Amino acid sequence: MAATRPFRTSSEHTEPLGARYDCIRRASLALAAPLTPEDQVVQVMPETSPTKWHLAHVTWFFERFCLAEHVPGYEPVDPRYDHLFNSYYYTVGEMHARPQRGLLSRPTVAEIRTYRERVDEAMQRLIEQRADDRAFRDLVTLGLHHEQQHQELLLTDIKQVFFANPLAPAYEALQTPPSPPPMPLDFVRRPGGEFEIGATGKDFCFDNETPRHRVLVEDHALGSRLITNSEYREFIDAGGYREPKLWLADGWAKLREPGGFTRPLCWSVDVSREFTLAGWRELDPHAPVCHVSFYEADAFARWAGARLPTEAEWELAAYETPVRGNLLDAGYLQPIAAAAEARARHPIQQLFGDVWEWCASPYAPYPGFKPLAGSLGEYNGKFMCNQLIVRGGSCVTAAEHIRATYRSFFYPQDRWQFLGFRLAKTL
Ligand SMILES: [Fe+2]
Repeated sequence: MAATRPFRTSSEHTEPLGARYDCIRRASLALAAPLTPEDQVVQVMPETSPTKWHLAHVTWFFERFCLAEHVPGYEPVDPRYDHLFNSYYYTVGEMHARPQRGLLSRPTVAEIRTYRERVDEAMQRLIEQRADDRAFRDLVTLGLHHEQQHQELLLTDIKQVFFANPLAPAYEALQTPPSPPPMPLDFVRRPGGEFEIGATGKDFCFDNETPRHRVLVEDHALGSRLITNSEYREFIDAGGYREPKLWLADGWAKLREPGGFTRPLCWSVDVSREFTLAGWRELDPHAPVCHVSFYEADAFARWAGARLPTEAEWELAAYETPVRGNLLDAGYLQPIAAAAEARARHPIQQLFGDVWEWCASPYAPYPGFKPLAGSLGEYNGKFMCNQLIVRGGSCVTAAEHIRATYRSFFYPQDRWQFLGFRLAKTL
């Protein structure tokens, strides 16, 4: 059955800002449309948020950073929302504790929709008034990319809500993934040298993608595709989770905790099935493995006699590939097997979509990094400690939202996102 949701958002460069705003805001509501009000309230782990909180928080972002800053005498829709829907902007004020977002039975889903409508009306008026104000337009564009980040989180988080429910609900009946013949895993040799990575800032990017700067890369080889479920199952069958010498110390400690990792998140105990946004399915042996931590990806790489790519190696390869893949717009909402025809065009496949790829690079500032001015400086820069880089977007990332220079980041133990990996080798 084909997905019916209008996943496509809009084209950044061809639409007037007001139309683009409208389109992306509607896309969020479309993603929430299959959910009941009860679904939209639940939070299953501190890292995730309820659907209705996402819908309200992205609205608060526009209200707080656009309307409150640019409309003289602006009266907030409800001043208490500043506390409820501020995520982590301490320069704005204190906020409701993140692990307790699931306790907010009020405001209701309906009240949050009204909140969205009120803010949207005011935003459309302001976008019209400020049509010639470049800085304001950039601010709205940031807000729209922020909303797309939360559209992805909405799907990621509701998957965990349904996975935690013994009734195993499905978000939607999704289309059946293709099952092409298995693709061999090759290592594609790539010469080292001095290169540049990072965004130029000519088109939209987040502050953490800048400045563009030089990097020194050694001769290396990159895996031609992502690691698959069947390859990961071989690692489990070979006793990978029982062999301490494969694991980083923090990862091994994680395994030994009560209820520690024994298989990817969302896999059945007998490692034959996985939970998807369409409910439980047989594991597709040739689809990319998903919901693994950095520790698991790193241990697998060591077991395989390889390593994870650095973010520079990944980005340089991504420059040579169009931004295409199994992204949100494809409608599968689940990683799918690599296809032979794509291989014929580009030797390194699946760089975009399917799963965010763990890299062997800490999330750190690029040389000369400057966070955005004011409170929005809290957006990215303050997280540049103890997290690792992931690249390429996933099957729930909007196609127009991802690019080669895009840096996302997670803690090494995180697994609830669509997280997978490819291998690399130093030559
Ligand atoms: Fe946010």
